[in-house]
Amino acid sequence: MSSFVIFLLTLLSIFPFRQCHGRLFTFEMHHRFSETVKKLAGPLQNWPVKGSLQYYTQLANHDRFLHGRRLFKFDGPLTFSDGNSTFRISSLGFLHYTTVTLGTPGLKFLVALDTGSDLFWVPCECGRCASTDDPTLYSSDFELSIYSLNGSSTSKKVTCSDSLCTDRNNCLSSNNHCPYSVSYVSSETSTSGILVDDILHLRTEDSEEKNFVEARVIFGCGQEQTGSFLDVAAPNGLFGLGLEKVSVPSILSQEGFMADSFSMCFGSDGAGRINFGDKGSFDQEETPFNINPLHPTYNISVDQIRVGTTLVDSGFTALFDTGTSFTYLADLSYTKLSESFHSQVRDKRRPPDPRIPFEYCYDMSPDANTSLIPSLSLTMSGGGQLAVNDPIIVISTQNQLMYCLAIVKSDALNIIGQNFMTGYRFVFDREKIILGWKKFDCYDIEKIDHFPSQSVNTTRVPPAVAVVPGNDNAERSHERTTNTRQSSFASSVFQTCYLNLINCFLASLILLLL
Ligand SMILES: *[C@@H]1O[C@H](CO)[C@@H](O)[C@H](O)[C@H]1NC(C)=O
Ligand SMILES: *[C@@H]1O[C@H](CO)[C@@H](O)[C@H](O)[C@H]1NC(C)=O
Ligand SMILES: *[C@@H]1O[C@H](CO)[C@@H](O)[C@H](O)[C@H]1NC(C)=O
Ligand SMILES: *[C@@H]1O[C@H](CO)[C@@H](O)[C@H](O)[C@H]1NC(C)=O
Ligand SMILES: *[C@@H]1O[C@H](CO)[C@@H](O)[C@H](O)[C@H]1NC(C)=O
Repeated sequence: MSSFVIFLLTLLSIFPFRQCHGRLFTFEMHHRFSETVKKLAGPLQNWPVKGSLQYYTQLANHDRFLHGRRLFKFDGPLTFSDGNSTFRISSLGFLHYTTVTLGTPGLKFLVALDTGSDLFWVPCECGRCASTDDPTLYSSDFELSIYSLNGSSTSKKVTCSDSLCTDRNNCLSSNNHCPYSVSYVSSETSTSGILVDDILHLRTEDSEEKNFVEARVIFGCGQEQTGSFLDVAAPNGLFGLGLEKVSVPSILSQEGFMADSFSMCFGSDGAGRINFGDKGSFDQEETPFNINPLHPTYNISVDQIRVGTTLVDSGFTALFDTGTSFTYLADLSYTKLSESFHSQVRDKRRPPDPRIPFEYCYDMSPDANTSLIPSLSLTMSGGGQLAVNDPIIVISTQNQLMYCLAIVKSDALNIIGQNFMTGYRFVFDREKIILGWKKFDCYDIEKIDHFPSQSVNTTRVPPAVAVVPGNDNAERSHERTTNTRQSSFASSVFQTCYLNLINCFLASLILLLL
């Protein structure tokens, strides 16, 4: 409730400027002059008192500055030069990917979008990168690109003295290339290399004619990758969207390119969008992020869970992570939720299967009635409801169909993964420190022209072909996945399906026919 009021006030106070500048500028202004920012900026900064003449003069100057820049730099929310479409690729860990263009001449990378980490990195000057020789490895036809510093005329080295260089322990001298190294939660999955500075190609969305924007960002030249990055996830780079200073959203807002906010939507058919500078709408539901100042993450609180007709009183905090395919829950919440689900399901439970990361799986007859499967809804801190559209996953092997409660039991970490985000647009409002969400199919407004239909055609989801356990392929994928992120497991071994059951039936049937 209070956040709604704050949002209203923000809009009212900036109203006079809206006409000529739209959301972006209004944000920027708020950002530079908000009381919070003044406090954070400390005593050295000579901030004018709010409402004073000086305040408005400075505002106006700032206005002019941005206005001038706006004419050639941006005119509305920003997105990647290849468009704001994202698409889920089942064979690559069920994550959402998009195409980004880096450097001069521009080189395109198909990167996974990850709110659970901060650094943007691409394969580069490879010591060990995902194989480029065997594209069939990814069951998805795209070419892997490899960045190199001397391949781009606009690349600059980031030295150890740069403020974004955090790994200084490994620096020999301040003039050296800044090294980086990031390990991820997925077992043995990491990237390391050096930081570089180059142009990320963006464009504005509001105007009829596309205005291209060149933004300098810092990213990792990933020379050594391990684990999932070598095959089942993000072989062509990972786009960290976190809250730390090094993430691209942080750099873009810091440099005045956009409001400190972005949105992502996740359509039920696997298509999505990403829009930088998007602050959402009045009628969205909201919940605050729990910020740990030492390591800020998109950490939210769930107060209550409703499973079918039952209220499960078990609150928890969790990372809100687009870079994790399935939701992970630790006890007690996991047990309470899954037992409540189980008690309401009418289908026959299947014996445990070590190849499936989910514990609660059931037989599904072809005439199953989807409305009998218990629904799932989360009450977030602040009271906002998030009705989970896809709490289950349908898995089909050659001769049977089953469905599982798509939650992985975790030892400690709670993660709201991408399967809980389907059917919504989420706004990561980093200025207000809230998560906003609203039902959205990603198609309401715009025409779609940019995503490859190959990846989203429901009749062909997923591109991974069914592999019957026991044959060579199955063993190979099994081996590959045992030491990688569990969440991508199902996709390698089975035809899996995220869609609502009806579509899923269609998809499975068609896949069997093909
Ligand atoms: C990007 O998405 C927004 C809405 O989410 C839409 O208004 C805009 O037109 C889209 N731009 C492109 C190029 O698709
Ligand atoms: C690129 O840089 C490497 C050193 O990192 C150098 O050995 C190589 O010759 C350069 N390649 C070109 C084409 O300039
Ligand atoms: C989320 O925040 C809570 C409280 O601030 C903390 O206890 C918890 O460890 C955090 N969770 C994650 C996944 O970072
Ligand atoms: C499914 O179950 C619901 C509730 O029991 C019922 O109203 C509906 O008619 C059923 N649908 C089908 C297709 O059997
Ligand atoms: C989806 O794929 C099927 C089978 O290949 C094809 O017949 C259909 O036209 C495709 N639909 C779209 C929208 O591309």
